[in-house]
Amino acid sequence: MDGQRMSPLNSVNEAGGRLRTVPGRADIFRSGIADLPGSGLTWQVPFHDGATYTIEVAEPFCDPGNLALLRSGVSSDRRLIVWDSNVPPAWHDAVRAYFTHHGVTADFIAIEGGESCKTLETSTRLVSAFHQRGLDPGRESIVAIGGGALLDVVGFAGSIFRGGIPVVRVPTTLLGYVDASVGIKTGVNFTGGKNLLGTFTPPHSVLLDRGFFSSLTGYSWTGGFGEILKLGLGCDKTIFEMLERGAPSFVRTRMSDDEGQALLYRSIDVMLRELSGNIYEGDLTRTVDLGHTFSQAFEMGDSAIGHGHAVVVDLLISSAISVGRSMMPVGEFDRLVALTADLGLPLAPPIIDLEAMWASLLERMQHRSERQRTPIPTEIGYCEFVDDLSSAEIEAALNRVLAARPRK
Ligand SMILES: NC(=O)c1ccc[n+]([C@@H]2O[C@H](COP(=O)([O-])OP(=O)(O)OC[C@H]3O[C@@H](n4cnc5c(N)ncnc54)[C@H](O)[C@@H]3O)[C@@H](O)[C@H]2O)c1
Repeated sequence: MDGQRMSPLNSVNEAGGRLRTVPGRADIFRSGIADLPGSGLTWQVPFHDGATYTIEVAEPFCDPGNLALLRSGVSSDRRLIVWDSNVPPAWHDAVRAYFTHHGVTADFIAIEGGESCKTLETSTRLVSAFHQRGLDPGRESIVAIGGGALLDVVGFAGSIFRGGIPVVRVPTTLLGYVDASVGIKTGVNFTGGKNLLGTFTPPHSVLLDRGFFSSLTGYSWTGGFGEILKLGLGCDKTIFEMLERGAPSFVRTRMSDDEGQALLYRSIDVMLRELSGNIYEGDLTRTVDLGHTFSQAFEMGDSAIGHGHAVVVDLLISSAISVGRSMMPVGEFDRLVALTADLGLPLAPPIIDLEAMWASLLERMQHRSERQRTPIPTEIGYCEFVDDLSSAEIEAALNRVLAARPRK
């Protein structure tokens, strides 16, 4: 067993000037650019040789007075917008009106979002559309507006078109906001393998607007809490405690109040802290892989559930493994179960299939250089990595999860 203990987030120094660094990372700057109209909080994320991309809070996103969208990407007199067709049409109309107001020709391609759009076929369709329109990667860029799946496939298509055309990401789901739009991975599923094809390609920039959350229902809304819960459980006790304090309110208010905003910003801070320094994944022992060992068993195939929900079930099983090894106190596991229920997240897998769970672990091992490197939480806010999981141990953990009931 590897005994890597992760350290908690340093305390936030909110008192400083306009520019400050993300806690725990001296190289990621967080700023409010008050003198530029429409600029909100901005993270500047380094990825290679001093190059950076920005993640910017841009609310309200389509207000013509907010110049964030106009400034994003490469400045040109036309924009291609690839659009998740499940996002309400009012946003589509607002984006068109926004560009018309600013004298920019906006061309739209609609794609039905969701996991089924993450294919090589969608990618080649997109690449053909880029080619037909004569897009010039040196002078033009694409805006991708949608859930995590759409951002992944547009990012992938953008990365392989003529060596790469800049892509601006606008996440429209909670999961997209706190996770899929934050890092540099693009990808599609292939021959049953989740994200089997993909690239490390930073976005040109990311624009964030919580206004998209109001039309999310079911998984498309609560799935994002799965990734936030992962950060709280494995990397940052404060996030877990914020969730415990505000769970019903976060779900109800769609993160529209100050507490919701604070949770979103902290989640991005912690995600960036965990990703940066290892953004190309040279080190395969990654805390953010917590929840992503058995999850493929639940999100691929006939009884599939959404990615964020599959992560939650994995978190429960990984924690139960830890309890079984006496590495995590039972009381911490009970807190996780209670919080999972409060967030309206699944407490059990969609089907009981140990073989599929083992296959998911083996697949992850291929990605993790033939070692399990499985993060398991040891207490709220920390995890350790194990390399010696057996199928009997996974079965025992699954049984503990199936028997778990949230405290009243
Ligand atoms: N690249 C990365 O680093 C990264 C990280 C985490 C997850 N992901 C990927 O993200 C995907 C999951 O993303 P997700 O949870 O956003 O699910 P999703 O993209 O599948 O979206 C869920 C559903 O919500 C719809 N939708 C999107 N925005 C909407 C809106 N505003 N109103 C109404 N409906 C809307 C979508 O069309 C879809 O039907 C997975 O494929 C996962 O692998 C990628």
